[in-house]
Amino acid sequence: MTDTTLAPGSPAPGNVALITGGTGGFGRALAGLLRERDVTVVLADLDSDRARQTAADLGAHFAVLDVTDRAANAAVVAQVEAEHGRLDAAFLNAGIAGQSRHALDVDEFLKVIDVDLFGVVYGAEAALPALRRAGGGSIVVTASLAGLSPMATDPGYSVAKSGAVAFVRSMAPKLVAENITISAICPGFADTAIIDPLREEFEAAGFPVLSAREVAEAMVAAWAGAEPGAAYVVQPGIGAVPYRFRGVPAAKTASGDTAAVPAALRPPSMR
Ligand SMILES: NC(=O)c1ccc[n+]([C@@H]2O[C@H](COP(=O)([O-])OP(=O)(O)OC[C@H]3O[C@@H](n4cnc5c(N)ncnc54)[C@H](O)[C@@H]3O)[C@@H](O)[C@H]2O)c1
Repeated sequence: MTDTTLAPGSPAPGNVALITGGTGGFGRALAGLLRERDVTVVLADLDSDRARQTAADLGAHFAVLDVTDRAANAAVVAQVEAEHGRLDAAFLNAGIAGQSRHALDVDEFLKVIDVDLFGVVYGAEAALPALRRAGGGSIVVTASLAGLSPMATDPGYSVAKSGAVAFVRSMAPKLVAENITISAICPGFADTAIIDPLREEFEAAGFPVLSAREVAEAMVAAWAGAEPGAAYVVQPGIGAVPYRFRGVPAAKTASGDTAAVPAALRPPSMR
């Protein structure tokens, strides 16, 4: 298959989207693009006056959510359905990075995985019944380039984002029959608060970083046009391009033929 740049998507006016970590850099840029398309947007984030004001300034709704709280994810989706009637897209975007660049800090490692990986799993668990009730929809996970190419300075982030990509790839086949597409966005470094500790080093090295808007455009496109299970690399100058995973060597039978995985281990669509 040839690599193609992800085409702009077109969510319909009146659709309802939930964005976790929604008042951060990517969330704000995404909310702006969706509001331009008359999408009802709910920004879910840790509570603060700043977060509430950010949502209000964008013409979006605000919901308090710590994504590491499994029950709270379900409660926020229930709130979205109760207030707006439906859910069409869940952008599972909340995330943090580790700060201990040169030592393994296991407490920090676990915290990053809690937010960046379990936050995604809980978010998907919460959103799926609502997407089914809407007749289908999309889950777009903000993973990272670190999920495809681990960062030596942040093992927790690398494991969490690799796990998020694997989760998306594992879930996608069984959701296709329900008209639900799950995909991942894997941006390189982008100009948001999360890179504040590294910003001067990027500038000194003349290293190009993405704008939040470039990433948000890929997220919008993924909503309407993603391949199920795809992981889109977003890098300066290339747009959003599906990463092509290499297969692994298949098992051989005693006669040397390629062994078929038992049907029970394949989703119905691949039997
Ligand atoms: N900026 C980059 O260079 C870059 C690159 C690749 C991937 N990402 C990913 O993009 C996503 C968005 O990050 P961003 O760049 O907008 O950074 P950001 O720091 O501006 O936004 C992150 C948001 O997540 C929220 N958040 C953190 N912990 C949370 C929790 N427990 N529950 C709910 N919300 C929580 C924060 O309050 C914040 O609003 C993250 O998953 C991040 O890992 C960022």
